[in-house]
Amino acid sequence: MSPWDYVKLVAGVGGGAYILQWWISVVDRVDGFWTPFVLTITLTIAAATVVMGIASLVSKDNDDIPSVPGALPFLGNVGIYRDVERFTSNVEAAVKRYENDKGFTSLRLPSLNPFGQRVILVNNKDAIQQMLTRRPTTFERPQLLVDVMHGMLGFSKDLSVFTSGGFADWGRARRITSPSFNHTNVATMKPQCFEVAASLVQRWLEAAKHYATGDVVDALEDFNLFTFSVVAQVGFGLPFDALSSDSTLQDTREGAPKPLSTLLPDLKETTKHQGDWTLNPLLQVLDPLFSKTKLNETLIKRDRVRDYLDELIEFEKKQLEEGGHSKSLLSKLSDPATKLTAEEVISNFTTYFFAGVDTTAVGLSWSICYAALDRSLQRKLAEEADAAGVTAWIRARLLGSKQQDLPFSDVGIATLLSNSSKNSLKLARGVFLEALRLHPPASQLGADVGADGAELMGYRFEPGTLMFQMLRNQMCSERNNVKDPASFSPERWCEDSPDKIDDAFLSALMFGGGPRICPGRHLSVLEASIVLSCIFSHLEVHNVSGGAALPAEVTRFTMQPEMALVRVSRRIN
Ligand code: HEM
Repeated sequence: MSPWDYVKLVAGVGGGAYILQWWISVVDRVDGFWTPFVLTITLTIAAATVVMGIASLVSKDNDDIPSVPGALPFLGNVGIYRDVERFTSNVEAAVKRYENDKGFTSLRLPSLNPFGQRVILVNNKDAIQQMLTRRPTTFERPQLLVDVMHGMLGFSKDLSVFTSGGFADWGRARRITSPSFNHTNVATMKPQCFEVAASLVQRWLEAAKHYATGDVVDALEDFNLFTFSVVAQVGFGLPFDALSSDSTLQDTREGAPKPLSTLLPDLKETTKHQGDWTLNPLLQVLDPLFSKTKLNETLIKRDRVRDYLDELIEFEKKQLEEGGHSKSLLSKLSDPATKLTAEEVISNFTTYFFAGVDTTAVGLSWSICYAALDRSLQRKLAEEADAAGVTAWIRARLLGSKQQDLPFSDVGIATLLSNSSKNSLKLARGVFLEALRLHPPASQLGADVGADGAELMGYRFEPGTLMFQMLRNQMCSERNNVKDPASFSPERWCEDSPDKIDDAFLSALMFGGGPRICPGRHLSVLEASIVLSCIFSHLEVHNVSGGAALPAEVTRFTMQPEMALVRVSRRIN
């Protein structure tokens, strides 16, 4: 034990004795009949706390992974929660300070386990690559996350592609759902992406009319409406355009259920709860005790989403029976040939909204915030939009023409998604990916060690060990040959740049990796490149504060900017 451990031991025993003494004085004041019961219970709890506290201080883990100091019985390294919204950066700071030469550190999260829940922080590219590849058996989605997503706030009792584990369950869900987002299908999604992007430009052009009076645009909010509409349209064939001037959701298909006007906020509300519960597992106990009204409200929202989805599935089933067909994921999920249960359909449906709306909106918001600080970048994006035919298309579209051919129809989808110099939107793509490299919505990815345990970089980890893979640190590290890693440099995503990121694993790490890599990444890059190009074809974006500051980064369900307020003006050539 280090001298510091002795100090903690003495303080722990002294503190325990003091608490015991205080409780006994409380018990003294309790009505005589209850005294023996209260005394027995409090003595047992107090004694257990002191014993467990001492045991946790003298116990040694069977490896040489350094621990972040300051772990307390039950409360673990409670210091990282001093500001929950800074959870991500606090954990990253702990890694930088205490990791060993293999990039491993251990941290203890608050837990009902007297020793706190031990988490291994992995900050090593090779180790992370091995972990991501050895899924879904050796390393798994953390049970903590799965439980939260399928707890009281879950929409369905069944597992989705995100939450299921093992080759059989996860493999089946992945085989059925993810092909909807492969290259071929994503290519067919271009028209919808352009249409919704045009609505966003129209909305921001309206705001630009009030530039002089200082009106601001909430980019995070608007990008959420954008990605929500894209996922609804391309993923589920729901003809929603939440950005159109009449933003009430409409489904004009004959016999279709009336869309739930609160669908997006209802879905987001539950995501927020999931975020709170994942970040602080103790809230799972505290919320049902103390936030009953709030929880009830959330449950009502959950139930009305569920009712709408049930009606939607019935509608899709009827369409299929009557010989109709659509390419949407929903019709695929409802297709009797896939033999998915209604529960599975719903759990996957909500998963694609959770996974596909907020994430891309966050990446777009950071993109806009960076661009707002760099006029020359905006000029280059505008020139790229002109050359790609985006400016002309948007102009015609805003004038009411729906017949115009889509831009760059001769460029294949693989090129559009790549760093090729033939990619018509290579700079817009670079801006989005660079924003995600510096601020990935999933900066750390959790994993549980599977039933057989795992060997990794010379260590043996027991089944159930929770591990955090430090994704952002890899993408922002000179150790991995990323030049000038803290600077925002969209060009590093272009093949002709001398500083290009030339590592397939590293350059997709914001989307995870291995067999469970994000299946929506192609859609995300496509929609983001298109909307950024459309925006800068007609608008200039300005930082609200007028300074050089980016918004603060906060950890919610995803990691995101605290807010993304900008001012917009019409582009002047
Ligand atoms: C900027 C945008 C996005 C980011 C940063 C992102 C990030 C991620 C990450 C880090 C994972 C975990 C991957 C892993 O475990 O290795 C993931 C999984 C997933 N993502 Fe995305 N995602 C984005 C957009 C989307 C979109 C647009 C969709 C679909 C509409 C989507 C659907 C999914 C699904 C279904 C999974 C679970 C896959 C599985 O477990 O097999 N994501 N995403």
